[in-house]
Formats: sequence, C-alpha cells, structure tokens
Amino acid sequence: MINGGQRLKGEVIISGSKNATLAIIAAACLCDSPVVLHNVPLIEDIFDMREILFSMGCKTHIDAHGVMVIEPDTLNSCFAVHPKMKSIRAASYFMGALVGRFRIGCVSMPGGCKIGSRPINYHLDGFEALGVKSRIVEDKIFLNAYGDLIGGDITLPYPSVGATVNLMIAAALAKGKTVIKNAAAEPNVVDAANFLVSVGADIKGIGTPIVEINGVKKLVQTSPYTISPDHIEAGTFLIYCCIAGGELTLKNTRLKDLEKVIATLREMGAKIICENNTIKISCQGRLKAAHITTGPHPEFPTDLQQLMLSLMAVCDGVSTITETVFENRFQQAQELNHMGAKINIQGNTAVIEGVEKLNPSKLAASDLRGGAALVGAALKAKGVSIISGDNYISRGYQDIVGKLSSVRAIIDYYG
Ligand code: UD1
Repeated sequence: MINGGQRLKGEVIISGSKNATLAIIAAACLCDSPVVLHNVPLIEDIFDMREILFSMGCKTHIDAHGVMVIEPDTLNSCFAVHPKMKSIRAASYFMGALVGRFRIGCVSMPGGCKIGSRPINYHLDGFEALGVKSRIVEDKIFLNAYGDLIGGDITLPYPSVGATVNLMIAAALAKGKTVIKNAAAEPNVVDAANFLVSVGADIKGIGTPIVEINGVKKLVQTSPYTISPDHIEAGTFLIYCCIAGGELTLKNTRLKDLEKVIATLREMGAKIICENNTIKISCQGRLKAAHITTGPHPEFPTDLQQLMLSLMAVCDGVSTITETVFENRFQQAQELNHMGAKINIQGNTAVIEGVEKLNPSKLAASDLRGGAALVGAALKAKGVSIISGDNYISRGYQDIVGKLSSVRAIIDYYG
C-alpha cells in the first residue's frame, strides 16, 4: 500500500548487487575452500539460491548483516533440479558450476522474469566449444564433458550477460586457454570475474569485449570478497526521486556503473552530484521528456527501462523508449495507462506523452523491475495505490518498504 504524493527526502544505503551475488554464489561452488562473501543483499533470489544449494547438499549460512558463507566441499550432487530454478534466471549458472566441478551436470531449465523468450543457445554453444555436450530432455539440461573441459574460442552472437558469466565459470578450471569474444561488460559480469580472480582464477580483459581465461588447477579463497553495490537498485532510487520529487543521498554506490543513467537524468533536469561512493540527487518540478534506447553496457540498462517508463509518464513532453534487449518488457504500460498515463507501444518502442498527474489505483506487478516501476508510479499518484505481486519486487530489492519509508514515502506491506 502506498499513499502517494509525498516528496522524498533522506539517505538510502544501497545493498550489494543481486545479479553479481547470484553469479558469485554459483562460481563459489568451484572452490576448494569455504567462501565468505560480504555485502550480500537479503533478498528472495538469494534465499532461493541457498535452497537450491541445500538440495544439492551444499551448506551455506547468511547473517543479518549480509555476510554469507558457502561450504563448497559439502556439495555432493550434480543435479540442480529444484522448483525454485524456474524463478531465478541466474540458476542457469549452475550449468557452468557443475560441469566445471564435476564434468557432468543436470540442471532444470532456468526461468526468471517473463520479459522475453530468453533462450540458452549461446550458453550451450559456448559449452560445446569447451568440449561439453548438452542434451535437453523435457525441462532438464544434461551436460557431459566426457573428461576434462578443454579451453576453446567462443564468439558470442550477442554480448549476453548470462552466457559470459556461465562460460567464465566453466572455463576457470578447464585445461588451457578460453577466449570469449563479444563478451558482456555489465558491472555484475565484472564483479563475477573479479571474484573468480580473487580466488585464484586467471582472467584477463575483464570488462572488455574480449575476455581470456587461462584454466588453473584449483580455486581457494584467502580473504572474504565484498560484493559490489547494486547499480540497478541505485538507479531505481534515483528515478524514484525524479518521479516523486525531493532530495536523496545514496550511499554505497559506484558512479562508473551508472554513467549513462546519470547523464540521461541530468539532461531531463535532475541535479546530481557525485562524490566518491555517494550520489546526491535533487529534483524540483516536472522533468523534461527524453529519448532512450536500451543496450548492453555501457548503453542504457534494460533493467532500468521500466522505471524510466514510469518517470516519462509524468514528464513534460513526449518521450520514447526503444527496447533492444528483451522483446517483452513494457508489460506494466497497461497498468500505468489505468492510472492515467498516455503510453502507446509500437513494436519495441514506447511513445509516452507525459501527463501532469497519475491517479492512484489497484495495480498488479508481473515481473521484478516492472513491479518496482509500479511502486514509482504509485509514489507520484496522490492517494492510496495497492500493488499486488509484490513477491516479484522482494526477489530483487532488499527492504524496499523500509528504505522508502525512511525517506518519507508513506508505504507499508501486508504479506
Ligand atoms: C541478465 C540479467 C538481467 C538483465 C540482462 C541484460 C541476471 C540474473 N539477469 O539476464 O537482469 O536484464 O542480463 O542486462 O544477471 N540470448 C539468446 N540466447 C542466449 C542468451 C541470451 O538469444 O543463450 C538473448 C536474450 O534472449 C536477450 C539477450 O540475448 O534478448 C540478452 O540476454 P542476456 O544478456 O543473456 O540476459 P540474462 O543473462 O538472461
């Protein structure tokens, strides 16, 4: 429940990156020592990932401060087959982790938010280049390297985040050199690679389109690894401030992950000051319309596109969003139009005629970022909005209700 119309004011501490943590948890399965992670976000996707690990015998522990311990030596199954696999996209990383560790594996077909068809052909073609054969039987993928994984050359048809991470994980302990061309460079990919390096992997070209992995014999952690800040959560709060107006200070952020987003919001009229790992934003009045096109990093992140749709719905003028990454990512447009927004979807482009106000409404979230976008719209609409499907939102945002309440939003949660 949100009683919208309040300006936001105060400080928000950004949590660790969801997508980086999920990749790193899978990568940790390759290690010969317990792995300690700091700054792990306390969100449903992480709890679900622990359940999947538990079903494979792997002991993990997480405390209220986001310190997580994974004991990879207790992992005694090569079956990542669990109902939760359907809800977490990053569960696909168990493919790389299991073949990397056991040379064989069986993984439920990964699901995740329904924002497009999301095939895994780049992952499987890449594994093939490392000598891993795959077979899909009903909703399971069976993988077998028939011996050691051997490094290979892979050119991804598209800089896929998932395929890049999965192949880095699989190649970390393979024999010889693997080269991934057209690799993704998203901050979470960089974090996953940095984690692997911290436990002894040999990876060069991190964050560039050509990543080279020289297989090593074993991976051992010598000191805890701290997960990077979640740039999508930081971007979400920046956009909330632009929608609702007010002043926010975001702590524990990393500017370089958000350059495109910050440049866009500045062009639209937001005042943003960045100092070290703090971003201060202040927004008075309506922002100006803008035109964005999503794309692989460093282009505008698709994960913040849906939040921008809520913002542009109340901007001054006609905005457009062109979505080039996923084919079904304007699902919440209909809900926004129920609130009085004027959004017209034409293929992969949304044309948004900004309105001055939105009406409070009963809204249904149908995916994680779309749900977060509806929260943004409800913060603007004067009066009480009710959002169902909040389980999607808690998958990716740590204590979003507490964080928004602490900056003067009137919001509560009835589970
Ligand atoms: C990850 C993120 C997601 C983010 C996306 C793009 C996680 C858990 N999820 O998703 O939040 O929105 O990156 O930044 O980190 N594709 C294929 N075949 C493949 C793989 C991908 O055709 O084998 C296509 C996809 O359908 C999509 C595009 O490539 O159109 C990009 O997908 P990808 O970068 O792989 O996204 P995910 O890893 O699924």
